[in-house]
Amino acid sequence: MNNANGRPPRSDALVLFGVTGDLAYKQIFPALYAMVKRGVLNVPVIGVAASPWSIAQLRKRVTQSLRESGTPVNRRALRILLSLMQYVSGDYNNPETFQTLTLELGSARHPAFYLAIPPALFETVIQGLGNSGLAKNARVIVEKPFGRDLESALELNAVARAVFPEDSIFRIDHYLGKEAIMNILYFRFANSFLEPIWNRNYVSSVQITLAESFGVNGRGAFYESAGCLRDVVQNHLFQIVALLAMEPPAQRGYGAVQTEKAKVLQAMRPLTRRDIVRGQYAGYRKEPRVARDSDVETYCAVRLHIDSWRWNGVPWYLRSGKCLPVTAAEVMVELKPPPAALFADSAPPEGPANYLRFHLSPHAAVALAARVKRPGKEFIGEQEELYMCEELLGAEAPYERLLSDAMSGDGALFTREDAVEAAWAAVEPVLKHHPKAIPYKCRTWGPKEAEALLGPNGPWHNPSEQGTAESERDC
Ligand code: BG6
Repeated sequence: MNNANGRPPRSDALVLFGVTGDLAYKQIFPALYAMVKRGVLNVPVIGVAASPWSIAQLRKRVTQSLRESGTPVNRRALRILLSLMQYVSGDYNNPETFQTLTLELGSARHPAFYLAIPPALFETVIQGLGNSGLAKNARVIVEKPFGRDLESALELNAVARAVFPEDSIFRIDHYLGKEAIMNILYFRFANSFLEPIWNRNYVSSVQITLAESFGVNGRGAFYESAGCLRDVVQNHLFQIVALLAMEPPAQRGYGAVQTEKAKVLQAMRPLTRRDIVRGQYAGYRKEPRVARDSDVETYCAVRLHIDSWRWNGVPWYLRSGKCLPVTAAEVMVELKPPPAALFADSAPPEGPANYLRFHLSPHAAVALAARVKRPGKEFIGEQEELYMCEELLGAEAPYERLLSDAMSGDGALFTREDAVEAAWAAVEPVLKHHPKAIPYKCRTWGPKEAEALLGPNGPWHNPSEQGTAESERDC
């Protein structure tokens, strides 16, 4: 569906299914507002939901969402956004809802349909769009989780592909819209010094931590159906692994990047029970809408292997958890020590190996650690970081970036069918058959059993919120 100039057409309307929900309130309205402010959104935005709301109610909700998000609101931009909004109320199972939507869309030829709805409703809405003829020349934007296991992902992909071509399906993983994560791809392939050491010969292990200091925050019902592995590991963390581990793309353009990322996910060795430690924070069972005997994990650590030429034998350790001591995300790529211990401090633990650290949030920074001689007679030294800190002021927020990319038909920051399916295949064996969740206290780094997963490659590196190795340095 390209224009005469060979470019995909911009979407001329945005339809937001689930407009009364939490995701729209917390993420999408602020993103739409930012897009209006930047001048990239000037088409009708039609909210759809079951509640019999008036347009005034929807506008009020949008205004409230912006106030609560802390965005300094420019009155003119807000007025423009509110004037673009329309509302359709209806049951997604009822064809009349789609007929009303067709009328509201008027002369729009390339609408984008955003499904900010519970996954159980994806198929119903996609089929409704197909049956009503609305899918023609349109795009569909689907929120994660894309399926809840391999079988459901295959089914959902089949339903979506029966209605939309692959290049019109935009599967959102908002981590791919984060500047610090885009920088992994850029940093790896815009520099030449990294490539010679970026493999099994020089890298001893890789750790990725996504820590959150808060609990499930009222999302108990969702968490009960998902758990940490499905919520963030299979998608956000695996996408980070794919960017870190992929081969150089053969040419410019996002298709080549998608292909290389999918190959990494396909090369992941399926996890076994021995590769996973599950934890549950004390007090989780008392959260609203959580079973009193729940075994759902709020913490998950996994040991992963990528059976590829480049990464053979290198363990990848991933962990994420709620109620940990900080909110921060970081990648630590640890290098092997030099082949000979020539100095008194060469051998671990005095001489920890060099590493490359990508601090992903709350700041964006890259740090390269190398040993430097301390002044004095002795040939001993310490590990110093060459620290590159990226100021993110003014950067587009992930949802703003992803929505505007999807509306202009740019799929670079979205996940492809084969990649999603491969990611599910890697976790499939432990979705049902796994060790029990081990209780851990809030404000700790999770169950101590997770240390054993690392063996000689331990301990875990705990990220700081400042993004620095020495916490006194400020970013
Ligand atoms: C979401 C998960 O996808 O990502 C949440 O559902 C998690 O549980 C969130 O808290 C983390 O995203 P961010 O951008 O705040 O790091």
